[in-house]
Amino acid sequence: MRHACRSNGRTGKVMYLVTGGCGFIGSHLCAALRARGDQVRVLDDLSTGSEENLAPGVDLVRGNVADPVAVRAAMEGVNGCFHLAAIASVERGVREWLNTHQANLCGTIGILEEAARARGRIPVVYASSAAVYGDCDALPLTEDAPTWPLSAYGADKLGCELHARVAGVVHQVPSIGLRFFNVFGPRQDPRSPYSGVISIFCDRLSRGEPVTIFGDGGQTRDFVFVADVVIAMMAAMGQASTAAPVLNVCTGRPTSVRELAAVVANLCSTRLEVRQQPPRSGEIRHSLGSPSLAQAKLGLPSPEGLSTGLAQVVAWLRAGRPGLAPASQSANQPADRRSDYQPAYQ
Ligand code: NAD
Ligand code: UD1
Repeated sequence: MRHACRSNGRTGKVMYLVTGGCGFIGSHLCAALRARGDQVRVLDDLSTGSEENLAPGVDLVRGNVADPVAVRAAMEGVNGCFHLAAIASVERGVREWLNTHQANLCGTIGILEEAARARGRIPVVYASSAAVYGDCDALPLTEDAPTWPLSAYGADKLGCELHARVAGVVHQVPSIGLRFFNVFGPRQDPRSPYSGVISIFCDRLSRGEPVTIFGDGGQTRDFVFVADVVIAMMAAMGQASTAAPVLNVCTGRPTSVRELAAVVANLCSTRLEVRQQPPRSGEIRHSLGSPSLAQAKLGLPSPEGLSTGLAQVVAWLRAGRPGLAPASQSANQPADRRSDYQPAYQ
């Protein structure tokens, strides 16, 4: 279905900017936007993402989201911005405090500032995080729970929410922040030590290798499948407002890291060998969200179950970790050059 654009007095196909579109979540979003007929431009510095992840027909602007000149060029003529570019690792925020701050908070302010410059104001859907809550005893976390981050990463994501609010009040920029919990799925690169635990465990255990658990493994996470995150982001664009709302994107189901290791080992039909290391600093012990408000506001379907999602990750790894076709190839390339992997939302 093609979406005619009527916003800002323009007509024609809708054009979205996706920052961080070469990364794990962003590449799935780009594929889904292209599948529904939207035009997509990506701003990415390729620091953790890869051009190989891009769906055919997506334009790539290579640049830093903290560089106002690059942001201005990338925002030109777009009808909305999905802002995902960031250094997504809590652990990297511990080691590279100022560097991650520049990408994660200054980059977001740059996007909001440019969104304010456009005559019709550009709506912004941006990635916040469950890390804004810190350790909170009242679980599951609802959006009105206190925010008291334990990490530089979480503090910067909370800063994004505060600046989005300022952008709405002072500059009339419509926005909506999505507090993603632990997102997993194909294309989360397991080769980086900073990658998500699911991609690392699936990678190691599918090759019969041991896994490392930081701490006692009793820490819990709310793992949400990437296709559900894409659905939430696309639905959220229509809900961006100058009130700068924020919503959880989660399942409401807790899984401990120890339990996760056992489930993945079972899925891979391998014996589980665990190497234990001290807990990481700046970590939340239990992270569990309530999906109720987002389900009501965005009309979301029930989230994918953990084992169904895990099976897709393992299948993707066994298929040799295919990305989508390189962006430079045309959409009508031979079928054998395409990935067999079809995300659930396509
Ligand atoms: P990712 O590392 O796979 O993707 C991030 C993308 O942004 C990459 O393509 C990278 O090259 C790009 N990028 C990084 N810094 C940049 C910069 N300064 N300028 C331009 N591009 C830059 O990570 P992801 O897991 O896809 O995360 C996407 C977003 O979702 C991030 O904002 C992250 O903080 C947020 N988030 C992720 C999770 C999760 O579990 N993966 C959970 C909560 C929030
Ligand atoms: C993740 C996201 C972060 C997001 C947050 C929201 C990544 C890389 N980080 O952070 O962007 O904002 O969720 O909730 O996706 N662990 C091990 N062994 C390993 C790897 C990890 O035991 O080999 C443990 C960690 O110590 C942690 C848990 O697994 O307790 C999850 O770690 P990780 O996947 O890195 O995610 P978060 O730190 O929760």
